[in-house]
Amino acid sequence: MEIIGDGTAEHFEDLVAVDQIAQQDPERREELRKWLKSGTVRIAIQDGSPVGYTVVEPSFFGNDFLVLIAVGDQHRKAGIGQLLMGDVESTERHTKLFTSTNLSNQVMQRLLARRGWVSSGMVFGLDEGDPELFYQFPQSFHLASERVDADGASL
Ligand SMILES: CC(C)(COP(=O)(O)OP(=O)(O)OC[C@H]1O[C@@H](n2cnc3c(N)ncnc32)[C@H](O)[C@@H]1OP(=O)(O)O)[C@@H](O)C(=O)NCCC(=O)NCCS
Repeated sequence: MEIIGDGTAEHFEDLVAVDQIAQQDPERREELRKWLKSGTVRIAIQDGSPVGYTVVEPSFFGNDFLVLIAVGDQHRKAGIGQLLMGDVESTERHTKLFTSTNLSNQVMQRLLARRGWVSSGMVFGLDEGDPELFYQFPQSFHLASERVDADGASL
């Protein structure tokens, strides 16, 4: 069973283990330390160990931005990405929520489409030959998730 919770400094090594880029790139490891320190990391835990994480920063023209979602290689295609996205989307916030992914990252594009994110443009020149696609999570989806049905249960 998966649990979502806040990432803290004690999760650093486990999160490096699920993030292939962090395993190879000291800059990503430094960023991960910074994210954990600033309290912007949410983690999915399975059988007591982190299996994936997200980072949301208030970094996009005054709006929240899903900087990263990563699920450990051996834990993919089991719905953990969906679970982490659901957690990010349902967090109460007072700004818009954006993210981006490379044009080559079709798995992430399908995940975003499945969860109702809408395209908000493309930027060339960040990664050579692989444009960055930007998406916004519709605010109305968040509001809808807060609705209460006739029996008083949250939908
Ligand atoms: C993108 C990423 C986060 C998706 O994580 P994930 O946990 O595999 O996501 P999900 O399991 O929710 O969905 C992935 C696929 O598995 C399928 N799936 C989900 N549960 C499944 C199950 N029980 N059995 C079979 N397939 C399943 C989904 O339908 C989806 O299929 P699709 O790609 O054909 O549409 C992961 O691939 C990753 O970490 N990639 C590297 C980092 C990255 O690119 N991040 C995005 C940019 S920041």
